Amino acid sequence: MRLGVDYYPEHWPEERWPTDAKLMREAGITVVRLAEFAWCRMEPREDLFDFDWLRRAIDVLAAEGIQTILCTPTPTPPAWLCERYPDTLPMDWKGHVHGFGMRHHRCLNGMGYRERSAIICSKLAGAFAACPHVIGWQTDNEFGCHGSTFCYCDNCAVAFRAWLKNKYGTLRDLNRVWGTVFWSQEYISWEQVPLPRYTRGGWDSHSPSLLLDYRRFASQQQVEFQAEQIGILRSESPGRFITHNLMGLFNEIDYFQLGEQLDFVSWDNYPFGAGANYIPAGLGHDVMRGIKQKNFWVMEQASGPGGWNTFAPTPRPGQMRLWVYQAVGHGADTISFFRWRSCRWGTEQYWHGLLYHDGEPRRRYRELQQIAAEFKKLSPHVDGTEPRADVAILNDYDQIWAMQIQPQAHDGLHFEKLMRAYYAAVKRLGADADVIGKHADFSPYKLLILPPMYLADQAIADKLRAYAEAGGTIVLSLRSGVKDMSNVVTDRRLPGVFASLAGIKIDEYDAMPRDHNTVHLETTGRDYPIQLMADIIDPAGAAVAGTYGSDYYAGRAAITANSVGKGQVWYVGTVGDERFYDDFVGALLGKLGVDRVGPPPHGVEIVRRWRGSKPLTFVMNHNAIEALMPLGAECEDLLSGRRVSGQIELEPYGVMILEPR
Ligand code: GLA
Ligand code: ZN
Repeated sequence: MRLGVDYYPEHWPEERWPTDAKLMREAGITVVRLAEFAWCRMEPREDLFDFDWLRRAIDVLAAEGIQTILCTPTPTPPAWLCERYPDTLPMDWKGHVHGFGMRHHRCLNGMGYRERSAIICSKLAGAFAACPHVIGWQTDNEFGCHGSTFCYCDNCAVAFRAWLKNKYGTLRDLNRVWGTVFWSQEYISWEQVPLPRYTRGGWDSHSPSLLLDYRRFASQQQVEFQAEQIGILRSESPGRFITHNLMGLFNEIDYFQLGEQLDFVSWDNYPFGAGANYIPAGLGHDVMRGIKQKNFWVMEQASGPGGWNTFAPTPRPGQMRLWVYQAVGHGADTISFFRWRSCRWGTEQYWHGLLYHDGEPRRRYRELQQIAAEFKKLSPHVDGTEPRADVAILNDYDQIWAMQIQPQAHDGLHFEKLMRAYYAAVKRLGADADVIGKHADFSPYKLLILPPMYLADQAIADKLRAYAEAGGTIVLSLRSGVKDMSNVVTDRRLPGVFASLAGIKIDEYDAMPRDHNTVHLETTGRDYPIQLMADIIDPAGAAVAGTYGSDYYAGRAAITANSVGKGQVWYVGTVGDERFYDDFVGALLGKLGVDRVGPPPHGVEIVRRWRGSKPLTFVMNHNAIEALMPLGAECEDLLSGRRVSGQIELEPYGVMILEPR
């Protein structure tokens, strides 16, 4: 367990650096992240390099026992670079060139930009290759931030066509797969294949197959750009870890691909405005842990009120500490705060750090000191432990993109809506969830929940069948198996490749206004309002577990359960409300003997980390008021050192870390 800060020595007079370093040490900071936006100081003019200031800063920090993570400074190409290589600046889908003045103002297919970024990375890596205080690297900063995954310039059009050529081989195949005969779009030369630029119909009026391929292409551009940097860093700065600060639930880049090349994932966590709703940040952490299925870092942890020209409420006393333990509970091993001191200049003047602009340590600094003291005590208990879950929820960027392109229901049937609904239910019930990709090993899980597998192929159907046959329980969602991986609708009876696995045939489907119909669940005997869409199911081997309440399909099957080998495959053909998911998932957890604590009261979150069969239970009160939580056997709260049992009392934003006695 370690604490860090994101520090910008280039923003402050050099005379101040020793004071900052000393204050950091006194607060228990042992690592800093430096220089992700400092290109203009590293290379003030083309080919004029200056790393001396950075070396001095690293030395000042090291003198206080603080180690450095260096960043490649590529998200902020300086003004000289954009002037000299104008195609650095990206283009929006209406053909407007983005002006200089923000960050991430770069097109990854601007060759001047690409060359200069490779050069700055290798000069920087070389300059610190022998520096003992530099322990690792962060590539760039938040790939894809501010919509920067997408560019629609001519260079990108050329790159897109090359990507398509590589994928499809011939134009004839591209035309066939995309079905370009529709609206007379058949291409007779590669140059005719467009980027999804402005049309009268909006961005989503292009061919769904073209749109999905463009999303994949754009994501892969970022992944390949990072791969180039990683290649440079691994060869010129060997022996150091490489990470990147991802953005949790951000969905414009395939994080499984981006994460593949990293030693571990880190991410930027700003749970502003969440209040007692711990689900989005918790899910963010679990999505991040799922990318490499291992513990991670928080590279930027909110430490003050964030915002640019307006800002969020100040974290309440104890709230920053709570967010830190939430991260740790979900598997973070190092937490680095954004940022040390609030900046006096620039766009982020009001994105506050641990210190206000005046640089004096006050309340938030003291809270940091408290956390550091606690980390010291906790380390022997927490280091080497990991979260573990009986329940897995699937995450898949192809599905997310395809359902963004076509949300189908007017209020949007989004993959992430279902992911969140199931996740929230699992958490409210006091269980833990892993959020995994389709290439993960499913076998450790008792229950595997799949949001709509809208795009599917035989391979995923076979993998699921094998999992079920061996005893796994699967929950499939409505609108699964509708399309192939090219975003083309199947000509099979739905749910397509999943029909025999689910033991059903979809007869009809309906998009509907909110609360227009209900579903009756056999296990509880209750009715629940449903929304968005309904698959009207003909069972073909599966048992009916839920039926619609009204309209012309009243009494028809909405939910089914099919026995497959030693396991079971559920199909939930509609979208329910919170109570529905609690009851439906609750029954499954009970039946499968899923290990859990609680259910906890509203706003109280439970997560566990394990050493072998021994759990550490993090109990976290996200409410601004006290909470009471019933507890079983006697435990020791590692934070207070007290023995607790029976009913425990948590103060506002209070945390307990319980070890069984
Ligand atoms: C992101 C960035 C930081 C900073 C903060 C606050 O997470 O990585 O550089 O901009 O947001 O806006
Ligand atoms: Zn471009």
